[in-house]
Amino acid sequence: MQTISNETLQQYTDLLKSNEKVMPDIYLALLSQLNPQQQDWLRQQAAQTAVGQFGKGIYVRALIEISNYCKNNCYYCGIRCANTTIQRYRLTQEQIIEACQKADQLGFKTFVLQGGEDPQQNDEWMVQLITNIKTLFPQHAITLSIGERDKEAYRRFKQAGADRFLLRHETYNAKHYCQLHPHNMSRDNRINCLRQLKELGYQTGTGIMVGSPYQTMQDIVEDILFMEQLLPEMIGIGPFIATPNTPFEQQASGTVDQTTLLLALLRLRFPKALIPATTALTALDDHGREKAILSGANVIMPNVSPPDAREKYAIYTKKNIFSETADAIADIQNRVNNIGYHIDWTRGDYPLTIKQQNNHV
Ligand code: 5AD
Repeated sequence: MQTISNETLQQYTDLLKSNEKVMPDIYLALLSQLNPQQQDWLRQQAAQTAVGQFGKGIYVRALIEISNYCKNNCYYCGIRCANTTIQRYRLTQEQIIEACQKADQLGFKTFVLQGGEDPQQNDEWMVQLITNIKTLFPQHAITLSIGERDKEAYRRFKQAGADRFLLRHETYNAKHYCQLHPHNMSRDNRINCLRQLKELGYQTGTGIMVGSPYQTMQDIVEDILFMEQLLPEMIGIGPFIATPNTPFEQQASGTVDQTTLLLALLRLRFPKALIPATTALTALDDHGREKAILSGANVIMPNVSPPDAREKYAIYTKKNIFSETADAIADIQNRVNNIGYHIDWTRGDYPLTIKQQNNHV
């Protein structure tokens, strides 16, 4: 394996932090040629960058899993429509509002409504839901994570009060996209949705799974270059987890180390981005969250779905499904404190939705 010197690493890191263009080969070297000490050094640099931007505060979002019905059949995902082994559920508006109320009592200022692409939770239904939540909680932020819809739908959700939208692009490489998804889904449509969300003024999140089947280092570099164009306000990455009863059940999972290394690199390149310590990391490693924070993550999204729903929302095998009630929140708080950080209970918006073609605004 090729290696790079500490001096070169320092130069590359300075380049990442600058506004200068970073050539693909440099990303490639950072992702594949660092020894474990150098990787840890890069993670520390990234954590310092995050602290420079946000201090030691970690933003929190209340995650509510609104439905595990999905019309899509993504090869990696446990809630793909062809998986007949899972129990399906969809929350009612009343149940979702109840979860929001609970989350509000716990102190959350952001509700993340996440679900499969459930045709029954149609545009009209979503508009009603968003309107109802915003009427009860006008000061809170609403984040949607409900997949691909048309621009008119995105516009209506925004008008009803949605503030942010998460839609991972999963992979920018069109061929790789086809290896992860059936043919009725396309990379172009995915990217189009993201551009529309940006145009509509959403704080927009994208991201990928790290170590997904057939993914190459070049693919990851393309993902980073795409993010440099899109300028997402939020970036969510997590390890791919091989999940039973999916076409990829026998594949190798991604690793925590690869994920936190990429996370560090993204933090250095997008210093102001909101980057969560994702649940998939905790599924692989009990200390996944802490490791992500120490690599530059600055957001945690505890699950506040009703316990029933939480078990059934199995996009991947969750080793650590614990009920994130007040007790669990206290546990998260303790863990964050133990590494010298604290929970920041403010809304935690991106300072200014990025329009400029400058990723360091
Ligand atoms: N492993 C890890 N992440 C997964 N996702 C879906 N299935 C898996 C899996 N098996 C991620 C996708 C999706 C997000 C909600 O969850 O990236 O965008």
